[in-house]
Amino acid sequence: MNEHIDRRAFVSKAWKGGVALIGLAGAWTSWDLLRPRRGPGGGEVRTVAADVVPEGGVVEVTAARAYLTRVGDEIVAISEKCPHLGCRVPFCEQSGQFECPCHGSVFNRLGEYREGPTPRGMDRHPVRIEDGVIFVDTARVEAGPDKGAPETIDEPPAGPSCAGEH
Ligand code: FES
Repeated sequence: MNEHIDRRAFVSKAWKGGVALIGLAGAWTSWDLLRPRRGPGGGEVRTVAADVVPEGGVVEVTAARAYLTRVGDEIVAISEKCPHLGCRVPFCEQSGQFECPCHGSVFNRLGEYREGPTPRGMDRHPVRIEDGVIFVDTARVEAGPDKGAPETIDEPPAGPSCAGEH
């Protein structure tokens, strides 16, 4: 009788242990798939090859929650978070500018202020290029350009706003 109870208790514990292991394995796999890929700098996110970022264009890097753009030889990483109240700011291909859908702030391709309630231009992250690959340091945020500062690129809107208002 006692042996029967011991066997039942053992099977029950083994079953619970197996279920717990399967749960842990699933959680580990999910975390491993979803976590941002970090570069050798710890807070850095490995992104794309530098030659993928075209002059005059913008590349979104969702793992870094940032955009990459180029001015000559310089690569600039722009945080996608609006400095006003934190909405994600999409890049409007047809106008060639960033347009915040929440309260209408507009920024040029470098994230410099154009209009709206934002207190400054879009914030930036330091970048580093190693073996032709861009690493974005998402742990460090540099405040965007001053609201009153002149734009450093001469790129007026290329077409109508995605919001249809600018
Ligand atoms: S959050 Fe972007 S303008 Fe308000």
